[in-house]
Amino acid sequence: MQLTKYEQDMYDGEYGEGKAECMEILMSLGKIYDAECMVPITSAQVSGVSYKTIGDAGLDFVVDLGKKCDVMLETMLNPAGVDIENWQELGFSEEFSKKQVDIIEGYESIGVMSTCTCTPYLVGNSPLINEHVAWSESSAVCYVNSAIGARSNREGGPSALLAAIVGRTPYYGNHILENRQADMIFNVDYDFKDSIDYGALGYFTGQIVNDKKPYFRLNDKVSRNNLKLLGAALASSGAVSLYHIEGVTPEADYASCCDSFGELEVVDIEASDIEDTILKLNTTDKMPDLVCLGCPHASISEIKEVANLISGRKLKADLWICTSKAIKAMSEQCGYLDIIEAAGGKIVSDTCMVVAPVEDLSYEVIGVNSAKAANYVPSMCKLDVVYDSVENLIDMISE
Ligand code: F3S
Repeated sequence: MQLTKYEQDMYDGEYGEGKAECMEILMSLGKIYDAECMVPITSAQVSGVSYKTIGDAGLDFVVDLGKKCDVMLETMLNPAGVDIENWQELGFSEEFSKKQVDIIEGYESIGVMSTCTCTPYLVGNSPLINEHVAWSESSAVCYVNSAIGARSNREGGPSALLAAIVGRTPYYGNHILENRQADMIFNVDYDFKDSIDYGALGYFTGQIVNDKKPYFRLNDKVSRNNLKLLGAALASSGAVSLYHIEGVTPEADYASCCDSFGELEVVDIEASDIEDTILKLNTTDKMPDLVCLGCPHASISEIKEVANLISGRKLKADLWICTSKAIKAMSEQCGYLDIIEAAGGKIVSDTCMVVAPVEDLSYEVIGVNSAKAANYVPSMCKLDVVYDSVENLIDMISE
């Protein structure tokens, strides 16, 4: 692999033992993928934050690294397992919550921002088109590649962290323009009625394309919130890191201009494909005792929608809206937090509903509007799922 002088110096230990170790591991990774060089990155986003997923071994790794080096770029974390400011109110155990605080403090000791969110692009970590980044949350990778046109591979938590420390990532995969062309075309003849239709489309087509790059022709202009839900679903039932939508996403023209585009396999998606997927993602017909929104983390417009729906009502089951601390603060300024709390709901910050230990609480059925959450909650949390629109879920749990 060809290195610049600065990269070679880092590798040779001129900038310390920690950076040398990071370079060595990243170069080994690059060799696996036949990368010819490294590429400078402008930001990183690191998964592997919840104590439920990384445990004590992950905590030790972060603390050891923190003794040797620091990150050199804007670096945010994926959501944690609990809201570390409100874990008692939500019913999480002290033991888990303290471990969670230790992990976040470990990352802070390396210079990582303690912002824990799967939507970093909503809170200031928003690269420009063609910028190279190293992000690891699968839904965020899908969004940054597809909706923004920046370039990231689907990093693991450790490789994103090492990239943040040396400011470089191996140049392969989605970083190379030619690799960003579409692999399969989906003609979608469907009148989208609700956000859950986009999640169902993503879940259904993700199973077909796996890690390939789908190109969609839709009858609809898609909102940013729905791009978020579509990409999260594509990345969970498959391993999609980049998709294109004709007339919507920034690289769709490029993706369709190559000579081979006309030879790609074309799949027609019928209404029944989407409707059957919605049915399949429901594991029970019982009412939810917890409705959990914000997978990926909610935007301010999604929180406004919930506030409008529950204004003046009383909830008879729990409602959590997961988002970043920054969006929660904005919700408070806009008055949405007061409306939601008056109805009995909560805005839970910097937490992921899937990697939170919700199975230790007394819930049996979670209502979600995210196909990604519906996919993971039964296996990760051992709970039943109702997959439905925000409006219907709020109606189900309102008096
Ligand atoms: Fe975010 Fe967790 Fe969903 S990381 S995308 S809330 S599964």
